[in-house]
Amino acid sequence: MRHDGAMASPVIDLDELVPIVGAENVLRDPEVLAGYAIDWTRRVQGAPSAVVRPGSTAEVAAVLAWADARTLAVVPQGGNTGLVGGAIASAGQLCLQLTRLDALEPVDVLSAQVTVGAGVTLDALQLAARRVGLRFPVDLAARSAATVGGMVATNAGGLHVIRHGPMRAQVVGIEAVLANGTVIGDLRGLLKDNTGYHFPSLLCGSEGTLAVITRVRVQLVAPDAEQAVALLAFDSADDALAAAAALRHALADVSAIELVLADGVDLVCRSFELAPPFDPPAAVLLLVEASGPAGVLERFAAAVASLTGVLDAKVADDAERSAVLWRYRERHTEAIALLGVTHKLDVTLPLRRLAGFLSEVRALIERERPEASLWLFGHAGDGNVHVNITGVAADDEEIDGQVLELVARSGGSISAEHGIGRTKRAFLHLNRTDGEIATMRAIKHALDRNGTLSPGVLLP
Ligand code: MLT
Ligand code: ZN
Repeated sequence: MRHDGAMASPVIDLDELVPIVGAENVLRDPEVLAGYAIDWTRRVQGAPSAVVRPGSTAEVAAVLAWADARTLAVVPQGGNTGLVGGAIASAGQLCLQLTRLDALEPVDVLSAQVTVGAGVTLDALQLAARRVGLRFPVDLAARSAATVGGMVATNAGGLHVIRHGPMRAQVVGIEAVLANGTVIGDLRGLLKDNTGYHFPSLLCGSEGTLAVITRVRVQLVAPDAEQAVALLAFDSADDALAAAAALRHALADVSAIELVLADGVDLVCRSFELAPPFDPPAAVLLLVEASGPAGVLERFAAAVASLTGVLDAKVADDAERSAVLWRYRERHTEAIALLGVTHKLDVTLPLRRLAGFLSEVRALIERERPEASLWLFGHAGDGNVHVNITGVAADDEEIDGQVLELVARSGGSISAEHGIGRTKRAFLHLNRTDGEIATMRAIKHALDRNGTLSPGVLLP
């Protein structure tokens, strides 16, 4: 397990937090803390001195001002579903647990917007939108636990980026607290507001290093009248990606293009006792989804039928059968986690380099870590591949570096949608110049003079 460097811890009286949040929200029992101290991948182990659970923006501001005055480091945490250790507090740091900020205001139907607390789960937000006949278009497998604040802080992507963009594209207002306790931002939801620096843009993807996000206003979209899903079998990644491109040219309503491989599908089927989708198994599979106004089903069926290179196909045009097909893709994360600590390298390649990368990364792992297993899957429509490696030591950063160098050499990003967190900060220079990193540091220093917000996250 990886242990991150701690800040020197001054003598601090945590009892002083009790009047701010209440005794029941200052957790210090080591057994209780353990649940907040390790990330979902079990690769990043922290050791917070306490977990503090504020229940309002005012309480967040008071806790931050208190900590800043003592130069005590604070690491915000939402549903703790992140995959790069960005929400894990190291020894001597405070874990600022935000799931009590779960207020969900009534949907403003006129603007199709809603304001939610940072601790509201994605599931709850999606449900609130559905109740008034609207839809929140970002979706990902961790929906029952992932919180809106964390999703904004990491600029989460998910399954529908090709159609709706990542979290950044949905945020129309933000409220956040700076390290010194100053509350910034607004939740008016004005789509046009050119009054200087745009805080939502700055805070999306800032990974808790600039401010603590407390409330977010998001844009909702109209629901789709029809939706269809197809699982398509191919001989090779080249064939699959050519078909994906052809599908997007043929149909404006494509909302997801996901890629999985034979070994991953086999692992999912064995782990969760699912029937294999194809017999014989296909080397490469695409899960494609189309959704939109009436008529999509027909257009989708015609577009799928016109694709070349498809060896076999399963099509679903109702929610229940679509969910059955989605399982082969969505359950990859859980199935791989059952194998042990996983190196999760979430990267994007330019689409023209994607197929080549899949074989190059396999050759690299076979050569450098023959004992390891490599699992590749992802969001093929936007070039995002999840490179998962099992069977190597949790602290083997050398293999991470080799994969990420290959990504950078191929013109890709070392973090597509999970963020940099703690596990990738040493590799940030692969994508960012010295000048860019210095600029990020200058922004951080301007907002967080004492460096108390999430030290050790994002910036090397
Ligand atoms: C996914 O696409 O399933 C998520 O990003 C989680 C993962 O990478 O395992
Ligand atoms: Zn993903």
